Amino acid sequence: MNELKITLKESEIPRQWYNLLADLKNPPLPPLGPDGSPISPDMLKAIFPMNLIEQEVSTQRWIDIPEEILEILYRWRPTPLKRAIYLEKHLKTPARIYYKDESCSPPGSHKPNTAVAQAWYNKQFGIKRLTTETGAGQWGCSLAFACSLIGLECKIYMVRISFDQKPLRKIMMRIWGGTCVASPSSETAFGRQILQEMPDTPGSLGIAISEAIEEAIHDTSGQTRYSLGSVLNHVMLHQTIIGLEAQKQLALIHEKNPDIIIGCAGGGSNFAGLAFPFLCDKINGAHITIIPAEPTACPTLTRGPFSYDFGDMAKQTPLLAMFTLGHRFVPPPIHAGGLRYHGMAPLVSHAVKEGLLEPRAYDQIKCYEAALLWAKTEGYVCAPETSHAIACVIEEAEKAREEGKRKTILFNYSGHGLMDLLGYDKFLSHQLSDYHLPETELQQSLEAIKNFPKVR
Ligand SMILES: Cc1ncc(COP(=O)(O)O)c(C=O)c1O
Repeated sequence: MNELKITLKESEIPRQWYNLLADLKNPPLPPLGPDGSPISPDMLKAIFPMNLIEQEVSTQRWIDIPEEILEILYRWRPTPLKRAIYLEKHLKTPARIYYKDESCSPPGSHKPNTAVAQAWYNKQFGIKRLTTETGAGQWGCSLAFACSLIGLECKIYMVRISFDQKPLRKIMMRIWGGTCVASPSSETAFGRQILQEMPDTPGSLGIAISEAIEEAIHDTSGQTRYSLGSVLNHVMLHQTIIGLEAQKQLALIHEKNPDIIIGCAGGGSNFAGLAFPFLCDKINGAHITIIPAEPTACPTLTRGPFSYDFGDMAKQTPLLAMFTLGHRFVPPPIHAGGLRYHGMAPLVSHAVKEGLLEPRAYDQIKCYEAALLWAKTEGYVCAPETSHAIACVIEEAEKAREEGKRKTILFNYSGHGLMDLLGYDKFLSHQLSDYHLPETELQQSLEAIKNFPKVR
């Protein structure tokens, strides 16, 4: 019989994170400060604690995971590697489909892998309070969860449309002691400005990040810092535990390196977490197709230019070299709230630019259809973000059937959708539509970055 679940013992958990920066042939472009020159680590210290800034700029290949962080991760890690044989049978594909089940963490996604690490490093640095943004609410829940275990206060700015679409996520944040407000809010100067300019805006991650950073840097006690759930190098680093576990699990069942690796991409962290350890193999000659899957409504990697841009709407972050739709871009209110980000992790962007990754975009309806097929075959209800990866998996498994090839497909099951049922309800009652970003709207949004330093 085929193993459906490949598990590792707690003692087999990876004890180091993998840093892709050590293996890139060409170094990524550095973040720039307001004067257009590369920033120094010191310039980030009002936003992040120094120990995380050191990780952000580190080029060391392996970084030890502190024992106290592992102690917390053992609650749900190592996560199982599962085989989707019921989906395989339904599709009549010769492909073998494996997935890392990150939905089994307490908040229900991959996000606590970095939330726990970030809360721990902040605590070590003497910080008392963290502020953050959240799209779908998975990140907000994860940081509230981590802060409650580690003993920090947590304030979350939740993108307005998700605040309304996913009311249960707010309750989860409150259960773990977090305070959640809808963004744009009247609690920050930038939030008030946006509410005046665009009173009916659904909000965006770019706006929520601005509000959270503003609150952190205006705390004159120096005891508050900001925490980001994706995009930055140290977040990608913390998520690599996913891919490192998967490598051990595939080796246990004597499965060769996957032919295809897939993850949905919002800011890039669940994708990078699974893909980066395998990307190292690809850089060293392995033949693997690695696909970040994003929404057509927010097509950062597939339609945005590679440019310097801000990570937030109020321009408080350094300029990052990344694929971007422009920091003033407000994505349409699709239900995959965690994929509504205008930019993309600089490391993921760099790998796309280097030709190492093959991004694809999927329509909302196709993704919900994939999610429904997943639920009817495998039985689980996935997060709307995860459905983008599943749509891509189905496409690749069907292609393998047509080509008659026994390919190995591995994807990241980034989260469950049990708090996202209102989106499913709308889909089942035919109230959802696709959103194609008109070219004129994209060009209008890109106007805001046309004078930014150019990248070659
Ligand atoms: C379940 C799930 N998957 C994926 C994402 C996308 O984020 P990232 O690209 O950082 O993994 C999110 C973001 O909230 C999420 O909640």
